[in-house]
Amino acid sequence: MLGGVARVMRAVRPGPATEERLLRWSWSSRDAGSLDEYLVVGWQNPRINVQSILVRHALVRRLFGSEFEDLMHAEIDFAIELNEVLRLESARRNVRMGAFLDPERRAEIRDVSSVIADREADFEERWRATLASRSGPKVSVIEFACGSANDYRAFADYGLAPFLDYLGIDLNPKNVANARRRFPAVRFEIGNAMDTKQADRSFDVAIASDLFEHLPIPVAAQVLAEAARVARHAVVLSFFNMAEVPEHDDRPVAAYHWNLLSRARYEEALRRSFTNVSVTPIADWLQREFGYKHSYNRSAYTFVAQRD
Ligand SMILES: C[S@@+](CC[C@H](N)C(=O)[O-])C[C@H]1O[C@@H](n2cnc3c(N)ncnc32)[C@H](O)[C@@H]1O
Repeated sequence: MLGGVARVMRAVRPGPATEERLLRWSWSSRDAGSLDEYLVVGWQNPRINVQSILVRHALVRRLFGSEFEDLMHAEIDFAIELNEVLRLESARRNVRMGAFLDPERRAEIRDVSSVIADREADFEERWRATLASRSGPKVSVIEFACGSANDYRAFADYGLAPFLDYLGIDLNPKNVANARRRFPAVRFEIGNAMDTKQADRSFDVAIASDLFEHLPIPVAAQVLAEAARVARHAVVLSFFNMAEVPEHDDRPVAAYHWNLLSRARYEEALRRSFTNVSVTPIADWLQREFGYKHSYNRSAYTFVAQRD
């Protein structure tokens, strides 16, 4: 039904305005409880999700330089170890891991995840203890598509939040309400990443995770330009469906998108605004640097692009 309506809307009035309405509608149609939970369990749990960890590490480097490289390396080793426990346990129980809105599937994933419950907070405690003795100027951060404070929860739990002057925006009012309920004193606002209404270079860092694939290709280009515009120093972007292909592959799904993005095209676009662009193809990197062969997503990429 949603797919049919979306097809008609796209045919009658193609373009970014229609796509924005479809995006808002599709994300808002989900129930608030599911939105609050579905991207933070299983592989998406920010404590053990390598891309979430790399976002935190990029912020720590911006704050403290290379002081904590050993701890960061150890944290990736730890994440790999727990990812592997989850992989084996999900195979043993024959549970398909993923990001699901269906509560029964999430309950299965929670059951699988119970095998790491006694260890998953180990690095949370280490980071809290490490950062507790620190002080210094804050880094201002804008997060595009912050969901229900999915990654901010970890910024708070890991002791990073006191060092951040943070604004999270999301198109979906239910996500923003969830985020505000958890963190009433933090700025979470309903907003469109295409046009944030923020001044040029008004944040040190702009971050966005798992957003660009869900946008029409021209809208995603606009969002990238917006991130580059508002970021004074750096952008940190996580992608879940990217490949070494020459062009983006536009894949509309019902009311939104599930595009396959070209790494080369994003790198090229970022090099227009940033002097230093580092690209981490997660699965290859984990294999090459850490000897881990079973990354759950071979299409995951993290970009850190910096001006300085
Ligand atoms: C797959 S979720 C990712 C959420 C979070 N970044 C994470 O990684 O857990 C995509 C999010 O993008 C939001 N979104 C989609 N289009 C947007 C737009 N144009 N501006 C702001 N948020 C948008 C949706 O409401 C949804 O919360």
